[in-house]
Amino acid sequence: MELDALRTALAASPDNVPLLLLVANACIDQFSLDEAQNYYERVIALDPRQPEARTGIAHVLNLKGRGSEAILRLEQVCQDSPRHAPAWMLRAKLILAEGNATEARSHYEQAVALDPTLADADLVTRIDQAGGRADSSRRNGGRIRPQAAGDSQAGAYYDPDDENEEEDEDFFLDSEEESDAEMEREFVQKADISFAQVGGMDRVKEDIRMKILYPMQNKDLFAAYGKKAGGGVLLYGPPGCGKTLISRATAGEIKAKFLSIGLHQILDMWIGKSEEKLHEIFALARRNAPCVLFFDEVDALAADRKDMRTSAGRTLINQFLAEMDGTSGSNDGLLVLGATNAPWHLDSAFLRPGRFDRILFVPPPDEPAREEIIRLLSEGKPTTGIDAAALARKTKDFSGADLKAVFDQSIESALTEAMKTGKIVPVTQKELLLACKQVKPSTRKWFESAKNYALYANQSGFYDDILEYLGLKK
Ligand SMILES: Nc1ncnc2c1ncn2[C@@H]1O[C@H](COP(=O)(O)OP(=O)(O)OP(=O)(O)O)[C@@H](O)[C@H]1O
Ligand SMILES: [Mg+2]
Repeated sequence: MELDALRTALAASPDNVPLLLLVANACIDQFSLDEAQNYYERVIALDPRQPEARTGIAHVLNLKGRGSEAILRLEQVCQDSPRHAPAWMLRAKLILAEGNATEARSHYEQAVALDPTLADADLVTRIDQAGGRADSSRRNGGRIRPQAAGDSQAGAYYDPDDENEEEDEDFFLDSEEESDAEMEREFVQKADISFAQVGGMDRVKEDIRMKILYPMQNKDLFAAYGKKAGGGVLLYGPPGCGKTLISRATAGEIKAKFLSIGLHQILDMWIGKSEEKLHEIFALARRNAPCVLFFDEVDALAADRKDMRTSAGRTLINQFLAEMDGTSGSNDGLLVLGATNAPWHLDSAFLRPGRFDRILFVPPPDEPAREEIIRLLSEGKPTTGIDAAALARKTKDFSGADLKAVFDQSIESALTEAMKTGKIVPVTQKELLLACKQVKPSTRKWFESAKNYALYANQSGFYDDILEYLGLKK
């Protein structure tokens, strides 16, 4: 339900504890931390020991950067309401962040014993890596196994080297070629543009060249340094600023196949079989190396999202990580590009080295980049007297998509004129300037939420680029 609808409902029954909790949790999702805290406090005023509200407050405190205070509060909750599993779980996570893996594991086990659906393989891995005592039965040489019994999301999974391979056989009714052809139709897209058609984005271009283009051109040199072609680059930023465009252009630039996958596509099309499909997609990409494998909306692979309809299960996340790690095949010559507008929903497991080894902020185009985009947009169209530099100055905060909208609008009115007269009517600077006033820059809204995450949840300086862009970097 929409947050606004919840607020309205709350106005009608202000002392409804379950409703208060619902609204508070929704506020956390929107990062309205003060508002969330206010609702939790109202619950506590009605019922001082209510564990969910007390855990919620700890959550808010942590998001506000007051981790140790949050831990102290959780200790109290666990003492007063020892059967409230989410408190143990949050405590495990926060304690782990403090570097105490052994204690984190004990809290985690307590939480899962109380509520097996909270099992979180990624957290276990992080605890293991941080040096907490490893429970070897849960890990299997990095392979994916069904997780702790009772994990509601464990179940369907696919491991190509699994000894139960025969049982999985009926997943693959098609012959390999048929299924390849089917998936190619589904996912292979044209890559008929190159970097020259993308304005600005110099840093992203150079990073991608270094990852795939140079290694392909200088195989021996890179081999001498133990480097292969390929890897993973995650692009994040406001909508319409060229993440999809640059990914397609990368494939064109290196003349490779371009496989483009919206993760929601996998989730919707193959309910219950998404792990196998994901594996097949990676396998197809590997067979076609050099290949650019582009995952749009990678944030769909987020375990912590409340909205499970748009979120993948644990097993799909694990499958994705295993594929990225090259557990089930060599990723040589495979460039995996991921894009998201909501990096804060991403699972931290993606951000560790070896998966997406580069995480790049794609900001709105700066003035020179806008000028370049404007030039690109006017190429091959009937125009007269266009001053790209002047337009670029007037379009601060415009995304590439916004600039395209400006052009589309102007072209449309020129075309209407042309229809009347039967002659070609060129697009003029005046028309474009007029359209600039009508198109609202779309990137500001994104920065409003991004700013909150950057200020209050900037773990390991992940969002430093955003702070820098906003001029908030200390
Ligand atoms: N740097 C750029 N150079 C040229 N055109 C651009 C650029 N950035 C955006 N555009 C134009 O805007 C359109 C939308 O860009 P694109 O789809 O790549 O954005 P995005 O970052 O993937 O957005 P979203 O986050 O919404 O998926 C492109 O098709 C292109 O016409
Ligand atoms: Mg896109």
